[in-house]
Amino acid sequence: MDKFLIDGPSKIKGKVSISGSKNASLPILAATLLFDLPVTLHNLPRVKDISTMLNLLKSLGSKIELSKDKKTAKISNNKNMKTFASYSLVKTMRGSILVLGPLVAKYHKSKTSLPGGCLIGARPVNYHLSALEKLGMNYEIKDGYILAKSFGKLKGGLIRFPKITVGATENSIIAACLAKGKTVLRNCAVEPEIKDLTNFLNSAGAKINWKGRTCTINGVSSLNSTNYSVMADRIEAGTFCVAATLAKGTLEINNLDPKIINTELNLLKKTGAKIKVSKNKIHINGPEKIKSIKNIKTNEFPGIPTDLQAQLMVLMCKAKGKSSITENIFENRFMHVAELQRLGANITTKNNKAYIEGNTKFIGAEVMSSDLRASVALVLAASVAQGKSVINRIYHLDRGYEKIENKLKNIGVKIKRLKR
Ligand code: EPZ
Repeated sequence: MDKFLIDGPSKIKGKVSISGSKNASLPILAATLLFDLPVTLHNLPRVKDISTMLNLLKSLGSKIELSKDKKTAKISNNKNMKTFASYSLVKTMRGSILVLGPLVAKYHKSKTSLPGGCLIGARPVNYHLSALEKLGMNYEIKDGYILAKSFGKLKGGLIRFPKITVGATENSIIAACLAKGKTVLRNCAVEPEIKDLTNFLNSAGAKINWKGRTCTINGVSSLNSTNYSVMADRIEAGTFCVAATLAKGTLEINNLDPKIINTELNLLKKTGAKIKVSKNKIHINGPEKIKSIKNIKTNEFPGIPTDLQAQLMVLMCKAKGKSSITENIFENRFMHVAELQRLGANITTKNNKAYIEGNTKFIGAEVMSSDLRASVALVLAASVAQGKSVINRIYHLDRGYEKIENKLKNIGVKIKRLKR
């Protein structure tokens, strides 16, 4: 298992270009199962989770032609597609559950593994199942698998999500595209990744409209071939904005529409960062003194994303004064706290709230990654720590950050991947 060796503190300066979005690519790739005609996707991030989804599509029968740089994929389905999503693939990435909707919508059946446990929370898929059931899917859970079928095409209907959920919203939109008649989804998640999925499907002839948190889909009989470029990764961009703010850095962040991280940029401005935006570009200068924020709360979009919570916690450790962070989305997303304490942080947690003492002098140490975003927070802390740090289990990080050590090296972080 690879590790990172980081020698801090770093002076962060330079340019970084943001890769395609992992969390937009996954539902878009799953939605390609609806197609008879080829689909070409550009700007895919070269991260582990995308390879897992491509392998899952291959296991279902899709032909995948990847460009040399692996950022463009031409996906062609055949008449004899399979509808079995095995535990061996699904267990490595929960997002695999997104193939359930398209398989039932297109092939009227599927045997899809339940995703299983996750460190950051229970993460059940009950809202996925109840929504698809309202479109006419019948299912039973057997031996850890969802055995699903529908009698012919799914039928449009009215679905109100009891809780805002990204995944269930995506699964329902995808399935409803080929359902008979109209589907109305209420209390939907409206993350930019969901709008990217909508734009992708509409570019292929789907009929999806939005009004606030209500999404209306008029089913079509089939989708056209399409050529689509996936949006940039706003969480990767947010991570680099935090890196610059943390290290009094000067960064030019390219290849992202700054509007989609407006909330995050406003929060960083409150900590003292100087930020200028232009089309697809962000200039950010970290402050000499980082101001603390009394109570940061994670929420659904357009709130502060939970996927940036750990990174913001590192920033608050360096801020002048006390602050707190309330995690409202996942019930167990403070796994990074104990590791940050190993680097010298002073953080206490109670239920879903963390209390952070600022003015932390991070000292290099050996730490352990537990999940994707926790691991990048450890990298950020180590990049401003005094001395050497070793970050273990960075396979977590490789799931969602493309070549992060190269991007960090280019902006002044002394980082090395130790291959094992
Ligand atoms: C997506 O996960 C993202 N993953 C997550 O990013 C992100 O943290 C999350 O949305 C919230 O923004 C992908 O897009 C692949 P949810 P998802 O359904 O769809 C509960 C990362 O770091 N819930 O919005 O799984 C659930 O347990 C990852 O890139 C149910 O109870 O999130 C959670 O508490 C981590 N039943 C809340 O809703 C359901 O059927 C929000 O989950 C579905 C969800």
